[in-house]
Amino acid sequence: MNNRKILLGITGGIAAYKSAHLCRLFVKDGADVRVIMSEAACEFITPLTMETLSGKPVPVKMFGRTAGPLEHIDLPDEAEIMVVAPATADYLARCATGRASDLISSVTLAFTGPVLFAPAMNTNMWNNPATRRNVQTLTEKHGWHIVQPASGDLACGWTGPGRMAEPQEILDAARSLFRRDLVGRRVLVTAGPTVEDLDPVRFLSNRSTGRMGYAIAIAAARRGADVVVVSGPTALPCPTGVQRVDVRSALEMESAVNEEAGACDAVIMSAAVADYRPEQVMEHKIKKEHEGDARVLQLVRNPDILAGLAARFAKKSGPVLVGFALETQNMIESAKAKLQRKGAHIIVANLAADGLGGDNTRATIVDDQERTSDTGPSTKIALADKILDHVLEYWAMS
Ligand SMILES: Cc1cc2nc3c(=O)[nH]c(=O)nc-3n(C[C@H](O)[C@H](O)[C@H](O)COP(=O)(O)O)c2cc1C
Repeated sequence: MNNRKILLGITGGIAAYKSAHLCRLFVKDGADVRVIMSEAACEFITPLTMETLSGKPVPVKMFGRTAGPLEHIDLPDEAEIMVVAPATADYLARCATGRASDLISSVTLAFTGPVLFAPAMNTNMWNNPATRRNVQTLTEKHGWHIVQPASGDLACGWTGPGRMAEPQEILDAARSLFRRDLVGRRVLVTAGPTVEDLDPVRFLSNRSTGRMGYAIAIAAARRGADVVVVSGPTALPCPTGVQRVDVRSALEMESAVNEEAGACDAVIMSAAVADYRPEQVMEHKIKKEHEGDARVLQLVRNPDILAGLAARFAKKSGPVLVGFALETQNMIESAKAKLQRKGAHIIVANLAADGLGGDNTRATIVDDQERTSDTGPSTKIALADKILDHVLEYWAMS
């Protein structure tokens, strides 16, 4: 982030203590950081701490300041991106309704560049319909980029969503915002599980949360790509600036992918597609009383979507095809075999123990140029950026 100008906004939540660490990470990464705090934020962490870490004065109040009367206009003019962490429910409400009632909301309103915000609040505040609506307005109408809060133990004693994302994840997200190297590219990402119905109430599925695929979609959109995500059922909100096509079964996913792929420069298939589906979906609930103790389910093979795309497009001129391999053993050998079998350009392999459902992940990227690289442990967003870097190299080669 060499000399990139970041305006770091801090509002009044417990997580404000983490902003000191975030500021440190920005500074260590070479960024030129200017901090601004709400008056409530000063109840949690002192401007002196932030002044010391950023090396610059920290404005708080709208009136009675010394730096000049037009700070609320000058500050936003000087920054390339604005990162607000933590972002309180109150601040989000002010911004969603266009209020400029204090310095930080005035500065935000006057800022015309990308805004990244990391909400942090009690679970009930986060789930409150008013907060949901404000977040939706800011992401969908104002184009703000969100770093979703994590789920877990909160300082208020509750457990649930609302904990501010870790500073490293916010740093990774901010890095993507500075990179506009995917502008003009269209990227298709598949994400989540597929669901294969047995009857109107039962199905076969898997534990994929969709988080890796959504991280790729988020990173690609932040870097300027036009992104479509074909998503199996997940609890995740549609990321800012991303078009989402919802599907349920592998067959639905195949037809959505086939429809979109021709217009895309890269297809990144991170969805956990079921290999098999029930031969027949029963129209009515399967009854147990007519059956014995054992029941045999007849399954049929689902199409291999990635191999289908590889067969359809010429390897040099078609979209760059990226597959995923989740393994429990022999990861690299299995990934190389999968690369061959499917005809993909790149396979991202990870061990179930390293990736499934967690905040962080670790993967090995194997490609058809016989390169193998271990990404090391990283956030899902940082891994997403590494995968996209690899795709960029392919575009440069063609
Ligand atoms: C101990 C304490 C902790 C708080 N933590 C949060 C929080 O994590 N998130 C939040 O949205 N509000 C929190 N609040 C409420 C905000 O401080 C309050 O809504 C304030 O008006 C926010 O002002 P600001 O948005 O200008 O910073 C907390 C209040 C107290 C007293």
